[in-house]
Amino acid sequence: MADWLKDAIFYEIYPQSFMDSNGDGIGDFEGIIQKLDYVKGLGFNAIWMNPCFDSPFGDAGYDVRDYYKTAERYGTNEQLKKLFDECHKRGIHILLDLVPGHTSVEHEWFIKSMKSEHNEFSDRYIWTDSVWEEPEGLNCIRGISDRDGSAGVNFFSMQPALNYGYAEPKRPYQQRPDDPAPLATRQAIKDIMKFWLDMGCDGFRVDMAGSLVKCDPEYKETIKLWQDINSFLKNKYPDAAMVSEWGEPKYSMPAGFDMDFLLHFGPEGYTSLFRSAKPFFSKKGTGTPTVFSQLYDISYKSAKENGGLVCIPSGNHDMDRLSRYRDTDELKCCFAFLLSMPGVPFVYYGDEIGMEYVEGLTSKEGGYGRTGSRTPMQWDMSKNCGFSSADSDKLYIPQSSSPDRPTVSAQQNDENSLLSEVKKLIAIRRANPALGNLSDFEFVYCRDNTYPLIYKRSCAEQTVYVCLNPSDKVQTADVPIKGNVIYSLNGAPTFDDKKITLPPCSACFVECK
Ligand code: GLC
Repeated sequence: MADWLKDAIFYEIYPQSFMDSNGDGIGDFEGIIQKLDYVKGLGFNAIWMNPCFDSPFGDAGYDVRDYYKTAERYGTNEQLKKLFDECHKRGIHILLDLVPGHTSVEHEWFIKSMKSEHNEFSDRYIWTDSVWEEPEGLNCIRGISDRDGSAGVNFFSMQPALNYGYAEPKRPYQQRPDDPAPLATRQAIKDIMKFWLDMGCDGFRVDMAGSLVKCDPEYKETIKLWQDINSFLKNKYPDAAMVSEWGEPKYSMPAGFDMDFLLHFGPEGYTSLFRSAKPFFSKKGTGTPTVFSQLYDISYKSAKENGGLVCIPSGNHDMDRLSRYRDTDELKCCFAFLLSMPGVPFVYYGDEIGMEYVEGLTSKEGGYGRTGSRTPMQWDMSKNCGFSSADSDKLYIPQSSSPDRPTVSAQQNDENSLLSEVKKLIAIRRANPALGNLSDFEFVYCRDNTYPLIYKRSCAEQTVYVCLNPSDKVQTADVPIKGNVIYSLNGAPTFDDKKITLPPCSACFVECK
């Protein structure tokens, strides 16, 4: 694992919506550069930036038309290189978003693969041998070319699936993962990674990482494939980092990823924290921590065994905003959890100020229900919240029109704001080695349908108990904890020899000798 991951704390930037430097209503690289001091000032030292490559933007850039060229709307390859350099000057590492599973239908590989004459790209994608046959395990597009066949798609219908083979080929069109064409696809992806790493990026977030080999229920072949790619990387670029969008560390860790997210899809667990019908992190106090703890125990064990890290994101461009249905105290409690768990924290831009999910928006670039979580950053009280000098109706996505919409400038000078709390929590994580990314973790009090939640973080130098009570009632746990309270939210805990009592909607970190 790259050394820098040991104390990395990530900030996810959705480039469309972060900062517009040229007044065209959409964010760009230069805008991100202007805001790097803000990111750094909060204590983040790593960035994941969503796709920024040439694309027709049917899925916000997850439909790549040219992997080697940035999208004009964000800037040139040279400007992206400048962004890498400006990050590095500030001690920030930056990951690009790699979409290895599919391209846009407009990618020249796909255009060539549609031709009826056989050519170098005929098998770059999964095509059946007849337009009347559908590819196993996939939706498809067909009737769009002279080539007689149907092309499998991974996500939306304009995202044809690249060919990495089938785990157990059954039909003539299905190839083995180590047949020449799937190997050529794999090599093409390695070449793309090399290109950007050589230019200065620090690694990749990998889109739909578990989906490459088809009909691979236990991911045996997908794991082998990633082991190959990850070991190529570790040899050539030992400082590069790879985080998978897989959502199941028990598979992604043996596959050689440094990090994997727990996510809103895949096994339940992450969802039960913040986004289920009865989330654990809610004043209502009707949730349960054990759906999460079961998934976490399995995930944490695989990460430990394989030398990787589990990441619990505050949200991302595909999920409801963390702030939806939550007030500021509840959000602070969420961050006390997110910034005290092991692994690498990831904060989605705007979550640090409680940016709202904007309801009722028209879908933008394949966002659909996700559009409300992708609105332009709210920097200050000026026009378009300081995001852009364009006319408001030209913005990439309309912003919240609420008169009390949160902004960075309003929260920066308010010590009780969510932003100040996030900054404080990051500083506390950095100052206390037991709270570090690699320090040990153990659930201490975690019971079905019960609050609070208590866990222990420890390393050779220090032990810290993290006690969280998101509910709006006083809660007691029969755990004897005594020590120095190094952080508390919404009131201090009380202890005796047998138990700890926590005020409503509170959190505390207790350092024990
Ligand atoms: C991932 C991305 C999502 C995209 C999909 C298809 O889940 O996060 O935004 O739509 O993959 O590439």
